[in-house]
Amino acid sequence: MTAGAPAPGSLLGLAGLPGPEIEAILDEAEALLASWRKGTLPALLRGKTVALVFVEPSTRTRVSFEQATNLLGGRAVLLGEAGSSLEKGETLFDTAETLRATGVDAIVLRHPEPGEPERLAGRVPIPVLNAGDGTHEHPTQGLLDILTIRQAFGRVAGLRVAIVGDVLHSRVARSTAAGLRALGAEVVLVGPPTLVPPALGRALGAGVAHDLARGLRGADVVMTLRLQRERMRAAYIPSLSEYRAFWGVTPERMAWARPGARFMHPGPANRGVEVTSEVHDAPASLVRGQVRNGVAVRMAVLARALAEGGLRPARPPEAIAR
Ligand code: CP
Repeated sequence: MTAGAPAPGSLLGLAGLPGPEIEAILDEAEALLASWRKGTLPALLRGKTVALVFVEPSTRTRVSFEQATNLLGGRAVLLGEAGSSLEKGETLFDTAETLRATGVDAIVLRHPEPGEPERLAGRVPIPVLNAGDGTHEHPTQGLLDILTIRQAFGRVAGLRVAIVGDVLHSRVARSTAAGLRALGAEVVLVGPPTLVPPALGRALGAGVAHDLARGLRGADVVMTLRLQRERMRAAYIPSLSEYRAFWGVTPERMAWARPGARFMHPGPANRGVEVTSEVHDAPASLVRGQVRNGVAVRMAVLARALAEGGLRPARPPEAIAR
């Protein structure tokens, strides 16, 4: 079977997504967040079933997609590799066709192989939403990161965002950097040369710093990433203690950033390695807001994929609670 175009409403990555389209999703997420707070969420997914196919561990993404589906009046069905026929060798496409035959309207897919959501989207006539594919992209994480930054600063353009740590293996860094660049932010990737290759910075339109003090200087936002050892195929750091000593973000090192800088982490965090608990849990930390915004962003992308007429027209800014 030849690959076709993804069904409308599919979301496979943020690279190449125009700024206005990103803004439209963020505006819808804000509107849904305000309705959620007031208890007036519209049943945009009534009668719709969303399959959450997670062939890799997840807490935040899986639960927030499930929560988002339920909050908008839809039904979520969960499928992991363990306990499903994927474990018996069924192909992902055959699993997707089986889900479709049971009445599933959209598939949310997390997969360890980069490009797998795109390949599936080219073969099924229903929207596919990428929930993280290997080292490639994690578009809803990128969107929730950017929404969180927009809420904290009231804008994205002109901000300097330092992404610190294992960028090489990070799908989050790729999506968040692509979306931030599309909205006019400056991005600097910070870490050792083994984990932050200059070519990756060039590909993402981001600066690169192999020195923590230089990378954090002038940053409005400091986002750390964990070492994604499940994706490492070689020794990228001499030892965990040396990594912590050179690259761990502490309260003293946060002071190298701009006064009032905010801390972010996509999670899961390895406390005491890439960041101390003092920084992770400080008032300047936006981590909890990121998780809450994850539900709002996933409501917005599900509405974009499945609601009658797609996204509702953007509301005037004064109608959106910040
Ligand atoms: N940030 C993120 O993708 O977390 P989970 O792996 O818990 O979904």
